[in-house]
Amino acid sequence: MLAGKRITLIIGGGIAAFRALELIRRLRERGADVIPVLTAGGAQFVTPLSVSALAASKVYQDLFDLTDEAEMGHIELSRAADLVVVAPATADLLAKMAHGLAGDLASTLLLATDKRVLVAPSMNVRMWQHPATRRNVETLRGDGILFVGPNEGAMACGEHGPGRMSEPHEIIDAIAAALGEGPLAGRRVLVTSGPTHEPIDPVRYIANRSSGAQGSAIAAALARLGAEVIFVTGPASRPPPAGVQVISVETATQMHDAVQAALPVDAAIFAAAVADWRVRAPSGRKIKKDGKGGLPRLEFDENPDILASVAQMKKGRPRLVVGFAAETDDVVANATAKRARKGCDWIIANDVRPETGIMGGAENAVTLITGEGAESWPRMTKEDVAARLAGKIADRLAGEK
Ligand code: CTP
Repeated sequence: MLAGKRITLIIGGGIAAFRALELIRRLRERGADVIPVLTAGGAQFVTPLSVSALAASKVYQDLFDLTDEAEMGHIELSRAADLVVVAPATADLLAKMAHGLAGDLASTLLLATDKRVLVAPSMNVRMWQHPATRRNVETLRGDGILFVGPNEGAMACGEHGPGRMSEPHEIIDAIAAALGEGPLAGRRVLVTSGPTHEPIDPVRYIANRSSGAQGSAIAAALARLGAEVIFVTGPASRPPPAGVQVISVETATQMHDAVQAALPVDAAIFAAAVADWRVRAPSGRKIKKDGKGGLPRLEFDENPDILASVAQMKKGRPRLVVGFAAETDDVVANATAKRARKGCDWIIANDVRPETGIMGGAENAVTLITGEGAESWPRMTKEDVAARLAGKIADRLAGEK
């Protein structure tokens, strides 16, 4: 799928640098040419010889190498590729990019290039979460730099959290999407995500424990495959992924309206944990205790079923409608009934009993229920569930254009 494409790959100095070797191999298997650039830090983790052997190319390392300037100057090098990829992108490289520093070959290329730049961050979780890195990432996103990852998980330094470089296959998908070559290129896909908040009064609301992690991961995986993703999210505790169109809402009614406004789409995935009821008449003022132990009376109305309203459309229905079923009992039986009741094509059932640690956690164990039956997937990270689902969605939509 990447035949004839040229990728400049900048390998930064992080423990994930060794995975850049696998990335080179996979890129070449797909027909791409790789122009490798190794930073001084990168060369501490992988040797120029192994990079050059896998890329079947000279490795560029030094800004002031006269032979290189005679063969291909650094400005030319910065423009020779269809895409510039930085993997691993260290905190130091991101900071240099954000500030426009150009003290070595890698940062000079990144400043001089006229091509799109995709970065795959990799660093310790504290470094990723540091306000300086947060600022730099914001700046770079604003500059149009594309991000893939980082993923969450156990890290080489023994800590756990976001900071692991994306898997080589995820980086390849992001490269294909950046080059407009992903299997979902030209497809418009809607994803709902996160909880909804239903106000009681100006300071209180009814909510649920959804973090938005699974919906976010699905949106990111679909975008990596080249889809145009409309991401309608309630107040989630995670930031939305890069590269998607974000529509932030608070209540189920707002989510319903935002979904209707986003139609038509090729596929719609309803990962949001929508509140089933809303308070009939939220108070305009903070409700006060009456001082006598009396309880406030709240009346409820049922919220619109957003998934059902789309799945049961007579005209303009998305070709694929996917729901989730968060259950605590008889997971597969309940989810199978829910699929029929709501009229969606697929439903993804998950067991959200507290002891599973799934709601709000990093992992998920799901059963995909389609018209053909139920398929249980092993417990895996929410990113892996998302990647597998996105692949299935791409297969399903393939050839239907
Ligand atoms: N959903 C929706 N709008 C609602 C309620 C649910 O779009 N008002 C969607 C969810 O995003 C999910 C699916 O419907 O994809 C099932 O959600 P779930 O909470 O499991 O089911 P409910 O319909 O709320 O059924 P119940 O609470 O009775 O289990």
